[in-house]
Amino acid sequence: MIKKLLGALALMMTCTVTMAAGGGYPLDKAPDRVNDLASLQNGAKLFVNYCLNCHSAASMRYNKLTEIGLTEQQIKESLLFTGTKTGDLMVGSISPADGKKWFGVVPPDLSVIARAKSQGGGITGSDYIYTYLRTFYRDTSRPPGWDNLAFPNAAMPHALWQRQGPREMVAEVIHPAASDAKGGPGAAHPAFEKVTTKYDAMGFATSTTEALKDYRGHGSSTYTFKALDPAKSAAYDNDAADLTAFLAWVSEPVQLKRKQIGVWVMLFLGLFLVVALRLNHSFWKHVK
Ligand code: HEC
Repeated sequence: MIKKLLGALALMMTCTVTMAAGGGYPLDKAPDRVNDLASLQNGAKLFVNYCLNCHSAASMRYNKLTEIGLTEQQIKESLLFTGTKTGDLMVGSISPADGKKWFGVVPPDLSVIARAKSQGGGITGSDYIYTYLRTFYRDTSRPPGWDNLAFPNAAMPHALWQRQGPREMVAEVIHPAASDAKGGPGAAHPAFEKVTTKYDAMGFATSTTEALKDYRGHGSSTYTFKALDPAKSAAYDNDAADLTAFLAWVSEPVQLKRKQIGVWVMLFLGLFLVVALRLNHSFWKHVK
């Protein structure tokens, strides 16, 4: 029994370590739009049209979208595929088996992804999703034809690439030169080199390596995106924020109500404070 527990613990730890090693890209802060109904509605529309083919959000029913201000009629007209009813769960259209066959992994259910990806220290799952959606770059050498900075080697293609428009990406990686990785014989400090890889909008990469003489710094990686259609790319950032807000809402739909209740609780406490102060005043009036 204890052995099993230890085994499970070890497995959990390796998963965490690999993820931490795989990530490392600094996450952007997601705009907070989870109380913005127009954003949530746009996010829902994008999700149904672009994500639900592969993913599900099976803890959500279509008719629950009335909570973000959509009417049953709007849900029927703009969100439902033929054959789906408003009371149905938001289940994707491919089977897990097909997902596994096509992508090598089953596209995860996104019902609680915003909570699952929370990293603590003020970094939320929303920050992860927002960054993930905005750091895809074309790379023809990879099976999906894309790679991602927040999730290197992800098996997911960039589902919204047409909305984002073409982009280039330049990666500059400074690291100890291979021949001199351990500092080299007799070297006081390792020789560094800078590898610059440019991915063009079609995903073809060209790479140059430059030896850095007298470099005293550390290894580092810098990634720069260049949008070839800046207006489209900016509109896409807005979409990504809305989609992120929608996924944050899906993972905790009650948060809208909780926040509304919170406001009433604060009002009540404020009022009660006045009453308590007055009572306090009149109780002690004769003593003082
Ligand atoms: C063509 C199928 C496909 C579409 C369309 C798709 N995804 Fe994915 N998605 C995947 C696969 C496959 C994975 C698993 C990636 C992996 O584990 O390597 C994934 C993983 C994810 C993850 C988890 C990343 C992680 O760190 O575990 C998120 C978040 C996600 N997708 C969001 C979306 C959103 C939002 C959309 C709609 C804009 C979308 N996906 C559209 C196939 C798809």
